[in-house]
Amino acid sequence: MNGPVLHVVGARPNFVKAAPVITALRTAGCGQVLVHTGQHYDERMSDIFFRQLGLPEPDTDLGVGSGSHARQTADLLVALEAELTARAPAVVVVYGDVNSTLAAALVAAKLPIPIAHVEAGLRSFDTTMPEEINRRLVDQLAELLFATSPEAVGHLSREGVDLARVHFVGNPMIDTLLGHLDRFDPAAARAAHGLPERYGVVTLHRPSNVDDPRAAAAAARALAEAAVHLDLAVPLHPRGGAALRAAGLADAPGVHLLEPLGYVEFMSLVRGAAAVITDSGGVQEETTVLGVPCLTLRGTTERPVTVTHGTNRLVRHDELAPALHKVLVGAVTQPSEGPPLWDGKAGPRIARVLTHWLERHG
Ligand code: UD1
Ligand code: UDP
Repeated sequence: MNGPVLHVVGARPNFVKAAPVITALRTAGCGQVLVHTGQHYDERMSDIFFRQLGLPEPDTDLGVGSGSHARQTADLLVALEAELTARAPAVVVVYGDVNSTLAAALVAAKLPIPIAHVEAGLRSFDTTMPEEINRRLVDQLAELLFATSPEAVGHLSREGVDLARVHFVGNPMIDTLLGHLDRFDPAAARAAHGLPERYGVVTLHRPSNVDDPRAAAAAARALAEAAVHLDLAVPLHPRGGAALRAAGLADAPGVHLLEPLGYVEFMSLVRGAAAVITDSGGVQEETTVLGVPCLTLRGTTERPVTVTHGTNRLVRHDELAPALHKVLVGAVTQPSEGPPLWDGKAGPRIARVLTHWLERHG
């Protein structure tokens, strides 16, 4: 196999995870191809990440865009089959658990091209989440599985995955965070959005919180109650933005609705926040490392290490305002030690495993 390493990315969290892997493979002198599926396509959901994270221009943008799960996945499968066939890579690297990740793995498995899955083994055990379906299936198909936590390795082992394929390497999303830490300027970000010195940051985009108008109304109500304690900056993901606005979130005193933010602006705000309220996977991890209290509006998390080693706590809508109040009056707690191997070196570890694997299979 002499083909390149081909990375498939499509959605915002993929970009943040892929950047350090691509950099480390470049340093190792590896031939690479970057395919953007176009699942996320707005300037503020895609291009700004490529610029800010120093990602190379994609070699191809498949322009697949939005649709129902079936439509989007079908379009991804067709476009990726043609692309992977033409590029004939030695290995396809996929990231996380979005629809682009599953489609790329399914296409690669059937061509067949070996698959490396970055962020393997996460499990929420909630199969109503599309991500849970995606990540379980991808892990069944992958040849190389890169895990961010020992719990993830345990899940893979219990599912019968051969542990010789599993590599506990740490968290590339945290490589990106630590690599750009000097650029995060909370005071500038706060001033740019007219926020008081003490503020919180909110992100919500899970279907369970925003798709059903009743769920969006409950989330909006909970945030309005929370904003009584703390001004909240809310960069709205395009999914759910309309539903949260329709539920009256824009009119709640202390709520500052914003467009989706670029990575540096977003992490600057998070770094300076008194608390973060979210349903994002990545944000639970980032707040863990920054030591910012995080209240996650979900019943489960696939990232329990953010609760055991970090500042994360799962809350229901009706628990949010009291939980926030408790955070604000409580002593500031810094995590004693971050999760193991979340040290900014996951990208080089992944590159080392991949280059050795390529030598053996080249
Ligand atoms: C996707 C992932 C989710 C991840 C999230 C990160 C799946 C199943 N879900 O959810 O796991 O947490 O990305 O942000 O893959 N839209 C725009 N502009 C864009 C992109 C999307 O307006 O650039 C709107 C469209 O109306 C689209 C909706 O957002 O229908 C949802 O986009 P989609 O990519 O299907 O799912 P996300 O909710 O973004
Ligand atoms: N993010 C950002 N701007 C925003 C919201 C999020 O730069 O306005 C970044 C942040 O680093 C986060 C990542 O995008 O971890 C992915 O976030 P998202 O919540 O979209 O995806 P998830 O991690 O839930 O799949």
